[in-house]
Amino acid sequence: IPVEPFDYVVFGGNGDLAERKLLPALYHRQIEGQFTEPTRVIGAARTPMSHEEFRKFADEALKKHLKDGEYDTAEVAKFLARLFYVSVDAKTDAGWDQLKKLLDEGKERVRAFYLAVSPAIFGAISEKIRDHKLITKSTRIVVEKPIGRDLSSALELNDTIGKVFKEEQIFRIDHYLGKETVQNLMALRFANALYEPLWNAQYIDHVQISVAESVGLEGRAGYYDTAGALRDMVQNHILQLLCLVAMEVPSSMDSEAVRDEKLKVLRALRPITDANVEQMTVRGQYRAGASSGGPVKGYLEELAGGISNTETFVAIKAEINNWRWAGVPFYIRTGKRLASRMSEIVITFKPIPHNIFDPAAGRISANQLIIRLQPDEGVKQSLMIKDPGPGGMRLRNVSLDMSFAAAFNVRNPDAYERLLMDVIRSNQTLFMRRDEVEAAWKWVDPILKGWELTGQPAQGYTAGTWGPSQAIALIERDGRTWHEG
Ligand code: BG6
Repeated sequence: IPVEPFDYVVFGGNGDLAERKLLPALYHRQIEGQFTEPTRVIGAARTPMSHEEFRKFADEALKKHLKDGEYDTAEVAKFLARLFYVSVDAKTDAGWDQLKKLLDEGKERVRAFYLAVSPAIFGAISEKIRDHKLITKSTRIVVEKPIGRDLSSALELNDTIGKVFKEEQIFRIDHYLGKETVQNLMALRFANALYEPLWNAQYIDHVQISVAESVGLEGRAGYYDTAGALRDMVQNHILQLLCLVAMEVPSSMDSEAVRDEKLKVLRALRPITDANVEQMTVRGQYRAGASSGGPVKGYLEELAGGISNTETFVAIKAEINNWRWAGVPFYIRTGKRLASRMSEIVITFKPIPHNIFDPAAGRISANQLIIRLQPDEGVKQSLMIKDPGPGGMRLRNVSLDMSFAAAFNVRNPDAYERLLMDVIRSNQTLFMRRDEVEAAWKWVDPILKGWELTGQPAQGYTAGTWGPSQAIALIERDGRTWHEG
């Protein structure tokens, strides 16, 4: 369905995110016929650049980041023609009049400002937008993570943006919410009668959420070393996944209804503090090893300084203090330079209450529902069946396996495609509300503090493995094991 005509102003328009994600995503949306003319994409950054130079930059970005067969010369020409560029300085008034002049050509259009820049200048840019009277009645602002590095900096950042924009104009992106399988989690839970009655502590034994990456620092050492895996992945992406698994059924898909329910989950997370942090969390840091078929350096060798206690891996046993989830652990883990790129949510149901079969029939495994986020998106439900044949009653664990690529012969859109268009449609369901971000930090802060107070070390693990042995112990101590996709 086409959206209204819009002007997308991308601050950091010549940066890494614009190149890798935003420009290719907008190009795909054009191909899908979602744009209504006149629609423009305006790059804005400090670097002086002409419209033509920006178009050249975008063309290179598309050549580099589109998949085989996706670069269509006529479509690209049409796309490049809607690109413009203005050089602005967040700290001075230079360039802002020019941006205003350009935007004034489309006063009636939806106007979206995307801040693909360091959070340090979110405030300065917001104020310039206000001071130069660029805010119309259909203006929205999109901000990327990290939203703070703890609760107090998040509050400050939210206050700064909140002074200029109303909450309904602010779109805080968590790109995991734009992933197809993540949205499918809601379809699975709320469009099927089958699971919801079982979706509680009475029938579910535990939940695992793994987001494993095979990549290392990818040239982001400067940021990453000040963040670490807990801030980089858990505070946002993983807690969002946990919320979607654990939330109560919202009354509708309305953004407030969904976000109210997610917020309740965040607020119900059992605190982890210095008193229990060593028991509930594992920190890791990769050492030299092998990944993607070749030798790779250790984390410290990738850093310029060579000394750091930053975690590149974290595993946590989280618990939710409410009726639905009392006593059901949520084991979460994420890390860089792990054995493979694999993200999945595994729901393990409780064992059957009584086994009527002969021991010779074999062991009965608990049912598992596996939601695979990436790669090979899909859903798998394991079931016990009788092994076919006349050999008597032998039980076997098999999977009803639905791979989305095999089931639907369609391109899997990148998470940004959906989210960029939701901004234009003014649909905030898949964006984080201010109180959610703050509630997530409220849970994360005491963990960070606990690590500091106890001096909990980052355990070394060899690149290309599943993380430190302590992470295996964290779950095995409870008589459970990690599901290795
Ligand atoms: C980002 C993190 O938010 O998500 C990165 O900052 C991480 O460190 C990335 O690599 C993972 O995203 P995806 O979509 O590749 O799983």
